Amino acid sequence: MAYAVKRGIEKTKGFQIEMKKAQDASWDDLKNAAGITIGTPDYFDYMAGTVKDFFDRVFYPSQSKVKGSLTANIPCIFFVSGGTGGKPAIESLQKIGQAFKFNVIDYINGGSKITAGLLTKCENLGEKLAAESLHR
Ligand SMILES: Cc1cc2nc3c(=O)[nH]c(=O)nc-3n(C[C@H](O)[C@H](O)[C@H](O)COP(=O)(O)O)c2cc1C
Repeated sequence: MAYAVKRGIEKTKGFQIEMKKAQDASWDDLKNAAGITIGTPDYFDYMAGTVKDFFDRVFYPSQSKVKGSLTANIPCIFFVSGGTGGKPAIESLQKIGQAFKFNVIDYINGGSKITAGLLTKCENLGEKLAAESLHR
């Protein structure tokens, strides 16, 4: 799903795409981002622990006493895979998206089967993110 989202973003020229595992991502990645996409499996009706850890690590750096939330309005999309669904993980991401004040454009709840149709949806999501990130 992540590679399909990436293909979608690449249809718009001019972006440098950084693709990282959550445990390798840091505040430096987020603070310089024109747009962000976060993907995770649904683990126990929540995002994966490493993704939650990423958000935990970058939250305080994202808060400025002078400027408020430094991540406000960053265009963002979420995608989730799950054994039986993925809705709870999507909901957990949306809540965190509100805390960071991301501009959450759209999301995909992928379920458990990676089909050609799902990957096309992921590509479309990437295209949408790129279009929105151009305005930032
Ligand atoms: C520890 C663990 C907890 C999981 N909990 C859920 C869950 O609560 N709901 C769900 O739909 N799938 C759950 N799954 C299934 C994963 O979401 C599914 O395996 C994943 O989206 C597909 O990625 P994979 O191919 O890397 O396993 C769980 C999987 C693991 C390993």
